[in-house]
Amino acid sequence: MVIREAKTSDKLHILHFCQNTFSWGDYIKDVWDNWLKEGNLLVIEKNIPIGVCHGVFSQNQLWIEGIRINPDFRRQDLASNLIKHLESLAIQKKIQTSLMLIDTENSPSLLMAQNLNYKLYQTWNFYSLLPQKNNSHDISFGNVIQDSRFSHFVKSWRWLPLNEDSLHSLDSKNHIIYSRKNQNPSIAILEDSEHFEKTLIVTLFSGSKINTMNIISFLQNFGFEKKYTRIQILTKEILPEFKNLEHKISFHLMQKLLS
Ligand SMILES: CC(C)(COP(=O)(O)OP(=O)(O)OC[C@H]1O[C@@H](n2cnc3c(N)ncnc32)[C@H](O)[C@@H]1OP(=O)(O)O)[C@@H](O)C(=O)NCCC(=O)NCCS
Repeated sequence: MVIREAKTSDKLHILHFCQNTFSWGDYIKDVWDNWLKEGNLLVIEKNIPIGVCHGVFSQNQLWIEGIRINPDFRRQDLASNLIKHLESLAIQKKIQTSLMLIDTENSPSLLMAQNLNYKLYQTWNFYSLLPQKNNSHDISFGNVIQDSRFSHFVKSWRWLPLNEDSLHSLDSKNHIIYSRKNQNPSIAILEDSEHFEKTLIVTLFSGSKINTMNIISFLQNFGFEKKYTRIQILTKEILPEFKNLEHKISFHLMQKLLS
């Protein structure tokens, strides 16, 4: 078995077994070209590629995504070896944390993560919201995040650290909004998907129901005006009932401290 950087010609082999990975299909076909360009897209091969996994290194964090093993070659430690390979690259870069996102119902993957000493760090809920015209605009722009509870924000389905640098950059691009109708503001971070057209990805920190409803209403109208086709909301909280807001799936963020 060889682990190596992916190349263009691997795509067909990988997509061959990444079509019906989940009940809804798979997204590897949509991100392959981008991930190949980004680098650290690894394949494991036995004559032909039979497994894949992508690593994203940011300041002090390894993000692992897109782990797929050909069904004919599972339970042979292939996924574990791909992950360990990325971890060893992270350790060389003196990165101390590794993170991955796993559907709360994906037992094989959760067991694999536990087997590799990943611990449950946080649980997040994914909601979809349909853009729709309305008259609610009562929100403010600016950074009101001071709390260490807000550890990460989501950019293209990657949970990236919220620190002074990222907050400053998000704030300067007007990507942070909040609603403060009482002393418990709700805050949202808005990002365009880098991999999917016209998709708005929102990290939502809910302080109180009234503020969260206000933000959702704003997002719905914002989505309509900016011609987004879909709005994806990631939040640690359970959101209130709202027209055209649908809970899709929940994820565990699994974390490992590398040494
Ligand atoms: C999840 C997945 C990547 C695991 O790949 P794999 O190469 O079979 O995993 P490994 O052989 O490295 O498994 C290591 C350990 O994880 C656990 N594990 C993995 N698959 C398991 C399963 N189906 N049932 C129970 N435990 C499982 C076991 O503890 C296993 O060790 P063991 O075989 O000695 O008991 C693979 O099943 C897959 O591609 N699934 C579809 C895509 C997916 O869910 N990706 C992850 C998204 S986060």
